[in-house]
Amino acid sequence: MQRGVGVAEGVEFLQALAQALAVVALYPPGHKTRLRALDNTYQRLMDLFAVNERPVFSFLGDEVILGKRALRALRDWEWSSRLAGIGMQRLEFDASIPISLEELDAFLDDIVSRLTLRPMDSSSARQERLTGIRFGAVGVGDEGPREEAPEEEEVVAATNAFSLTEEAEAVVWVHDVLRDGGELPLMEAEAVVRSLTVAMHDDRQMMLPLLQLRQFDEYTTTHSLNVSVLSMGLAEWLGLGGRDVRAVGVAGLLHDLGKVTIPKEILNKPGRFDDREREIMNSHAAAGARMILTSDQQLDLAAAVAYEHHIMIDGGGYPSMRYPRDCHFASKLVHVCDVYDALRTKRPYRDPWPAKKVLTYIEGKSGTEFDGALAHAFTAMMEQWEPRLATLDRGDTPPASQHSPAPTDQDSGPPE
Ligand SMILES: [Fe+2]
Ligand SMILES: [Fe+2]
Repeated sequence: MQRGVGVAEGVEFLQALAQALAVVALYPPGHKTRLRALDNTYQRLMDLFAVNERPVFSFLGDEVILGKRALRALRDWEWSSRLAGIGMQRLEFDASIPISLEELDAFLDDIVSRLTLRPMDSSSARQERLTGIRFGAVGVGDEGPREEAPEEEEVVAATNAFSLTEEAEAVVWVHDVLRDGGELPLMEAEAVVRSLTVAMHDDRQMMLPLLQLRQFDEYTTTHSLNVSVLSMGLAEWLGLGGRDVRAVGVAGLLHDLGKVTIPKEILNKPGRFDDREREIMNSHAAAGARMILTSDQQLDLAAAVAYEHHIMIDGGGYPSMRYPRDCHFASKLVHVCDVYDALRTKRPYRDPWPAKKVLTYIEGKSGTEFDGALAHAFTAMMEQWEPRLATLDRGDTPPASQHSPAPTDQDSGPPE
């Protein structure tokens, strides 16, 4: 029998694999949706083996190659760059070594962990045990499993198994890259957002995993993650589809990116800003938008949100607009979530507000500072999902404020 490379079978197998990866990210082992997706992938692999006993896939940018043949049907296939991005530029299978469904499941779980920066389950089979599957490029497979979260990173909410430690580290790294003048590492930002969506749905019920501030200088990190989670929660509450929810999540994660340009003394200043400091602080909105636009043209939603997230519905706030205009829906959505998280967090110049007080504030400013419908939806969501808030306490609490908060503090306007 003439054996070819199996172009059609290869395409079908990769499509089944991509679908299974999405399912594995959302459903626990043993779930029937997951089993069905695995079974389908396994069958497609067997079909491929029938024509090609040693299929070798290469993921090169937008191009997918099987053996030496480019798979034209998978041009611009989003998974190609995604797999290459986690070091999986090459993926080989060997029909002479039997692969069980469990091994295939463990393999997919491993990929999802890499994509989402999720700590790997130590019980899941790793590459060296997956004898029929080989993948990688230089360096992949040598790094070993990611360390489990250290002990002090205790997760308070018993129902949530995530500490978001990896995600917080990724956000710190993204900020460091930009502070050093580098390009926005979009892949990492998107991986953080995908990971947050997995954490939000881990229990198959909606969950809002929010981080507690450990140190004041970590504020932008924890705040960015929390605003991303809250924004995706609200977007989902409003019925947006998965792709839009993730786009809002990326915008929420990057909304304060411009703060990497603000000197630390101003960011963490315990007292009131003078006019000059206020002007510098307010420049973070335009600075962030500029950074996002120059980094990636496809992030115009995130750029709009970075620019507009301090603009009030009545035209107040900043940057000031020469002509009054409506802000993007996503900016208005992130604005509400931004203020909620800022007021719930202890700052050098004031104590955190209780949740009820913040929700009353948001309702009170509905129609002036906040879009009425969004403010209302947000408070309704928080009231309904309060039992599903998981506060992730990473051990330390912030030091007590040395400076008693002024009655009219810096958040009397829109909080940072
Ligand atoms: Fe901001
Ligand atoms: Fe913010």
